[in-house]
Amino acid sequence: MIKRILKEVKEYKMASILAPTFMVGEVVLEILLPFLMAFIIDEGVNKGDMNSVIFYGVMMSLAAFASLLFGALSGKYAAYASAGFAKNLRKAMFNNIQDFSFQNIDKYSTAGLVTRMMTDVTNVQNAYQMVLRLCVRAPLILICAMGMTFYINASLASTFLYAIVFLGIVLAVIVYLSYPIYLKAFTKYDDLNASIQENITNMRVVKAYVKEEAETKKFNRASYALFKLFRKAENILLFNMPAMQLAMYGCIIALSWLGANMIVDGNLMTGQLMSMFTYTMNILMSLMMLAMIFVMLSMSFASVRRISEVLEEKSDLLNPENPVMEVKDGSIDFHHVNFTYGKDNENYSLRDIDLHIKSGETIGIIGGTGSSKTTLVQLIPRLYDIESGELCVGGVSVAKYDLNVLREEVSMVLQKNVLFSGTIKENLRWGNSNASDEELVEACKLAQADDFIRKFPQGYDTYIEQGGSNVSGGQKQRLCIARALLRKPKILILDDSTSAVDTRTDYLIREAFQTKLKDTTKLIISQRISSIEDADRIVVLEDGKINGIGTHEALLKTNPIYQDVYETQVKGGEDNGKK
Ligand SMILES: Nc1ncnc2c1ncn2[C@@H]1O[C@H](COP(=O)(O)OP(=O)(O)OP(=O)(O)O)[C@@H](O)[C@H]1O
Ligand SMILES: [Mg+2]
Repeated sequence: MIKRILKEVKEYKMASILAPTFMVGEVVLEILLPFLMAFIIDEGVNKGDMNSVIFYGVMMSLAAFASLLFGALSGKYAAYASAGFAKNLRKAMFNNIQDFSFQNIDKYSTAGLVTRMMTDVTNVQNAYQMVLRLCVRAPLILICAMGMTFYINASLASTFLYAIVFLGIVLAVIVYLSYPIYLKAFTKYDDLNASIQENITNMRVVKAYVKEEAETKKFNRASYALFKLFRKAENILLFNMPAMQLAMYGCIIALSWLGANMIVDGNLMTGQLMSMFTYTMNILMSLMMLAMIFVMLSMSFASVRRISEVLEEKSDLLNPENPVMEVKDGSIDFHHVNFTYGKDNENYSLRDIDLHIKSGETIGIIGGTGSSKTTLVQLIPRLYDIESGELCVGGVSVAKYDLNVLREEVSMVLQKNVLFSGTIKENLRWGNSNASDEELVEACKLAQADDFIRKFPQGYDTYIEQGGSNVSGGQKQRLCIARALLRKPKILILDDSTSAVDTRTDYLIREAFQTKLKDTTKLIISQRISSIEDADRIVVLEDGKINGIGTHEALLKTNPIYQDVYETQVKGGEDNGKK
């Protein structure tokens, strides 16, 4: 897990080595300062030797300046390495998410993925920066300062070992108590993110149902829960400071008392006592720093785990070895196909589908909601893998094709369609980035979109807002159809893609397909009989099984489900497509 994450820092290996190295320089010089100070007092001030004062003074200034320089350099490289690390992590996660299959996407929530890419990466970035600097600084200061104090006066130094033990115990208790609270806070953080994301992306629904107040309450609850957790954790951390001060002042009092006695006895010099004070402070400070580092590192460990989960997620739809690079024709053959969404789920969404479609045929698919219409067609561009049986396109099993080649040839207008922010032209070129302007217009004419696009003041350069919020539902559907047509696919799948289009336009689209897309296999899913009645064959789905296949006339005679739908739709008013 850690190994996978550290792979992303390789590019910044040099900076990751330089930062702690400079830190060592800073610490060593910093430790030297109180030592030099002692010389100024003992050799210079006490003996009235001005030359010594100047000499050691200059030495001190030089050491201080060099220490500053090293510190700055260390900071610079640590920031550089950690920011670069975060950049690489995000890039790697984003790349991996692009390879996710629909199955992988089903596993993570959008909010979860966003939190992982933003908050968690920031956590790791901060932790890494801290590791490069403080993790070197704190232990090093601790060891060096301890060494110096023992070097100056061993018996005096041993007195504050008690203080260290005391502080160590207090800090350990604090960490022990606060760590689980922080961990909990982070999962709550996820919930809060999810609630914000859900609310904001669905703002229109919230408004339509006048749910603002309820949503605000829900948000406040989540936010308050987080507040309570952080307050609890901080309340424990609060004891840090008093404990620290107790230890510090205890040490100072003990040092003053014992040190003064030693000075009187002639075993210690004033300057040495003064530097002892500074070292004591250094030691206790670095102890506290160590405790904080521990808390922060363990918190970021949760983030590391969440990031590596995304990085290590393998797409379960992989390209085969020696993939087939060409789809011969638009024929589709389901040989007794079974399919389930959950891997170990006995609950089959499709059962024993045996369906053979010739290239160029137009197939209508009808069935109640949840009858697995979408599920059936999603298998053709291999958005999901089948469980058993065989599914062939152009006479070759879909699993044998190069995924991109297959998906180029099987163009699917998804039921939940999305346009991206950008001009109409840019959106259409998602279908085919090399399409000429004439091809764009031709596809839009087929999809009956040309007319309304031309009515926009900016025509094909009209800007589509995020999620296509500034075009109507029916206009969006037609743009999506045009986008799919630009691929010039061998198989075109429309999943309820004209549901928001009036019946006349729907008819014009089908007629255009009939004359202009003769060789393309067309699969049209619809809840409206009128949209599929002129198809070559119609498939009636029920509960994931094929209930009947045939022409409109044949099904009207033999299939009770089809008859039923027909009756309700025609009686509902002159076949206007409304149920
Ligand atoms: N991503 C998914 N994960 C798990 N189960 C799913 C998923 N998508 C659909 N299902 C389940 O599979 C079954 C068939 O769904 P499907 O979307 O294929 O129906 P549909 O016929 O297209 O319905 P509609 O007319 O409402 O679009 C449903 O019971 C649904 O709960
Ligand atoms: Mg569907």
